[in-house]
Amino acid sequence: MGRLCLVLVLMLHLSWGFSSTVPPPFSPLCLPHQRAALLQFKNSISITEFCPDDSYAEHPKTEAWNKSIDCCSWDGVTCDELTGHVIGIDLSSSCLTGSLLANNSLFRLHTLQWLDLSSNNLNGSPLENTSSLFHFHGLRRLNLAYNNFDGTIPSELFSQLVSLTHLNLSFNGFSGLIPHQISLLSSLVSLDLSHYSDTTLTFDGRGFDMLARNLTKLRYLVLDTTVMSDVPLTSFLNLSSSLQHLSLYFCQLHGEFPSQLFQLPNLKHINVGWNENLTVYLPKTNWSRGLESMDISYCGGLRGSIPPSFGNLTLLVSIHLSGNFFEGQILDVFRNLTKLTSLTCSSCNLSGPIPGSIFDLVSLTSLYLSSNNLSGVIKSDMLSKLTSLEFLDLSDNSLLSLSTSSNDANYSFPRLATVLFSSCSVTQFPSFFRTSKLEHLDLSNNMISGGISKWEAEGWEALQQLYLSNNSLTSFEQIPGQSLLILDLHSNLLEGPILSTFLNLQAPFPMLLQEFLISDNKLTGNVPSSICNWSSLQILDLSKNSLSGTIPECLGNFSKNLAVMDLQMNNFSGKIPDSFMNSVLTNLFLNDNLLEGLVPQSLANSTSLEILNLGNNMLTGRFPHWLASLPSLQVLVLRSNRFHGSLPRSVTSSNVSTLRMIDLSGNAFSGPLHTKLFQDLRAMRENPRQGLPSPSGGTSYNIKDYHISVNVTTKRLELELTETIDIFVSMDLSNNKFFGQIPEEVGQLISVQMLNFSHNNFTGPIPASFGNLTALESLDLSSNKLNGRIPSQMSKLTFLAVLNLSENDLVGPIPHGNQFNTFDNDSYSGNLGLCGLPLSKQCNNHGEAEPPASSVAEHEDSQVPVFWQVVMMGYASGVVLGLSLGYIVFTTGKPWWFVQMVERHLQYRFTNWIRRKRPKRN
Ligand SMILES: *[C@@H]1O[C@H](CO)[C@@H](O)[C@H](O)[C@H]1NC(C)=O
Ligand SMILES: *[C@@H]1O[C@H](CO)[C@@H](O)[C@H](O)[C@H]1NC(C)=O
Ligand SMILES: *[C@@H]1O[C@H](CO)[C@@H](O)[C@H](O)[C@H]1NC(C)=O
Ligand SMILES: *[C@@H]1O[C@H](CO)[C@@H](O)[C@H](O)[C@H]1NC(C)=O
Ligand SMILES: *[C@@H]1O[C@H](CO)[C@@H](O)[C@H](O)[C@H]1NC(C)=O
Ligand SMILES: *[C@@H]1O[C@H](CO)[C@@H](O)[C@H](O)[C@H]1NC(C)=O
Ligand SMILES: *[C@@H]1O[C@H](CO)[C@@H](O)[C@H](O)[C@H]1NC(C)=O
Repeated sequence: MGRLCLVLVLMLHLSWGFSSTVPPPFSPLCLPHQRAALLQFKNSISITEFCPDDSYAEHPKTEAWNKSIDCCSWDGVTCDELTGHVIGIDLSSSCLTGSLLANNSLFRLHTLQWLDLSSNNLNGSPLENTSSLFHFHGLRRLNLAYNNFDGTIPSELFSQLVSLTHLNLSFNGFSGLIPHQISLLSSLVSLDLSHYSDTTLTFDGRGFDMLARNLTKLRYLVLDTTVMSDVPLTSFLNLSSSLQHLSLYFCQLHGEFPSQLFQLPNLKHINVGWNENLTVYLPKTNWSRGLESMDISYCGGLRGSIPPSFGNLTLLVSIHLSGNFFEGQILDVFRNLTKLTSLTCSSCNLSGPIPGSIFDLVSLTSLYLSSNNLSGVIKSDMLSKLTSLEFLDLSDNSLLSLSTSSNDANYSFPRLATVLFSSCSVTQFPSFFRTSKLEHLDLSNNMISGGISKWEAEGWEALQQLYLSNNSLTSFEQIPGQSLLILDLHSNLLEGPILSTFLNLQAPFPMLLQEFLISDNKLTGNVPSSICNWSSLQILDLSKNSLSGTIPECLGNFSKNLAVMDLQMNNFSGKIPDSFMNSVLTNLFLNDNLLEGLVPQSLANSTSLEILNLGNNMLTGRFPHWLASLPSLQVLVLRSNRFHGSLPRSVTSSNVSTLRMIDLSGNAFSGPLHTKLFQDLRAMRENPRQGLPSPSGGTSYNIKDYHISVNVTTKRLELELTETIDIFVSMDLSNNKFFGQIPEEVGQLISVQMLNFSHNNFTGPIPASFGNLTALESLDLSSNKLNGRIPSQMSKLTFLAVLNLSENDLVGPIPHGNQFNTFDNDSYSGNLGLCGLPLSKQCNNHGEAEPPASSVAEHEDSQVPVFWQVVMMGYASGVVLGLSLGYIVFTTGKPWWFVQMVERHLQYRFTNWIRRKRPKRN
């Protein structure tokens, strides 16, 4: 009995063991050598640190690959049902990161037919020699940020996996030349190599030509953002006639695109948009009948017009024509395209009224006709047939307006969610959209005047984003929308104690509001403390009004999410509330008010603070040393207040400080400067404009109208820094009572662009270490008691455009060379012991000023040759950018040109930063 039991147990055990390794007969096992190759691949590539495990879209598929499970059932692996060969691998969006090298085991899977590695962080063989970069002798600045020196796609992928029919390597980090071996993939039906524009994956002419000739089965070809500037456009004529989908977006193609491509018999989708030097001719006849979508936006300009035959392409669903200038009225051609859902012709130079035929395209879901010269009036009945419309963008047509009428109520737009009508000539709030599902209404920059009545404001159940900035609104009976998340009313003519009206009288009010901007109006009165009921606010901008009274105490901690509080340029008085508890606040602007008292200690709770501007108030007390504990503070402005006393040994808690704009000017700070102060300013000591975190206020929020700005003053100019603020580094200690020597350590702040120590009581020499401040553009040390010579090392400062050393006790020769040849007398006046050009006072053999006999000669014409010498040197050193020779010739003969030009140059540089591209809305 015992023995029988044992045998039974043994048999059971054996059969279990068996069944766990033997597959059901209809599903063959994966082959051991292929399983080994897959596991080896898994081990050669890592998984990114933060990979969402729960999301379907992106998750680490290879993580669960393991030996004890048949590899044919691994996530992402497909085997042939008969042979068990691995024929498909789909590892798209699998958080893979690493290099695919030539010997990767994946390439041993010769039976592979589908390979999808898209949307990972894979790159290829590292570049062998990056030193070629250093052959550009003229190179001034090299930015290698956001690059991981990706490598090329290994040629083995193409030469070994020759059975591939589908290959998708899109959105990885591959770069460099695409190996010619790609043309060995003659069975390929589908190829996608599109990628992000920050790497350069390149086709050379020969490589693409061979691909076009040899890949005769291609139906789907997507090469968006690969560099194809060397590819002759005639190569495209060799592409397979089976081609259905061709996408060459942003490929740097140039020349004439063969119109035959539009006639490929099977073509359904073609996209050649954003090839700025590509000329496109549309064929007059024989269009591919099945064409469903075409994007030719922002090519070098379509030649001719849209041919009438286009109207026969009744299967068209989407057309993108932006950036092409058409002759005549083109939109009528689309009259019969009843399947059209998306039409984009912005920036198409369209003019005149929108043709009525557009309003007959009953399938339209998206209509984008922004940035044209369209005119006329849109009325509710015109849109009545567009019952599928979801997205309407008619912005930036300065002669186009909207009109409401008594029968508006008869029309509804059941799907319309977004209406963008900014920068047109709308004069009236268009209440006819309110019955819809409208979520996003942009009417900014129009001519809406007067008030919005209670009647107009009712309805709007779904409205979440309302932009009414830059109009002439004077009042509101009620705010439209009760679920608003964003309300932007900046730059209107709203006046009176409107905030109290909003907050106290109007019910219901959007309680979930996240962004409220009402700056640059004429609001008066107090801010009622009921504003603290808006506990979801992220941006509160009440700046540039005439609000008065005290700042409600609760404002320091009313919203857990508040990131931006901007109350600047009002008439707020009293103390700053001492209630700050919020740890996500990044930008706090209280400058240009009438605030008094101490800086509240509770600000130390706002540990995310990046920009703190308290300038132009009447604040008192010593330097608020607890600011030192703010780990992210980058910009600190305390200018023009009544602070006094000496600075602490260090204004930061440790030498990891991120501070890079410090403005303490116009106070009564005194005492000497400690050397440690400069040692701890790490952000200012790092390489210019590298590795600096940028303030998040303007970028982490998707709001178009909130711009950070901070003013800096350089010689006679108050400049407003906006988007440029994240790259500006400055220290302004002017107009205080600091004394003692300027520490040598200032010379360690090598990224500083503007330094102002003027109007203090500094003594001793200018440290020679100033010669290390190579990023310096403006230096003001005027009105101190500095003595000694001007260090000759300072002539190394090739960006220096403004220098003021006047009213000191400096002596000896003025350095020459580089920028020193461009400064005029004003830079040195009031230093009786200085000599040499540009002063007329000559130096004697000991480098000392001659007796003041020749000082009469200062305004003589003899300066002109010197001036010319100076100009030519400025050019030779390549520093005086942006000045044109013509301008200089025109203005010859006036001694103050130079200052003016230099200032112009400075302003030019600043404005260019200011104009840097703004974050776009979605
Ligand atoms: C074209 O593909 C075939 C295999 O089908 C291959 O033998 C040939 O070398 C390829 N030609 C080129 C130019 O790559
Ligand atoms: C287009 O042509 C202009 C002028 O030749 C050139 O400067 C520019 O780089 C070209 N653009 C592209 C994307 O090739
Ligand atoms: C549209 O197609 C029809 C039939 O194929 C043809 O007769 C007609 O000429 C075409 N229209 C245009 C404008 O090309
Ligand atoms: C639209 O279709 C009608 C009738 O089928 C035809 O007569 C007309 O020419 C077409 N219009 C365009 C612009 O193709
Ligand atoms: C905020 O700051 C105040 C004053 O410094 C302090 O008493 C309080 O504990 C802080 N609160 C939090 C939540 O950190
Ligand atoms: C900043 O300077 C500009 C002029 O450049 C001026 O218009 C603006 O009012 C100033 N802002 C503040 C807050 O002083
Ligand atoms: C500079 O120091 C002198 C005394 O050394 C003092 O009389 C004067 O007021 C000081 N000036 C300033 C601007 O602090």
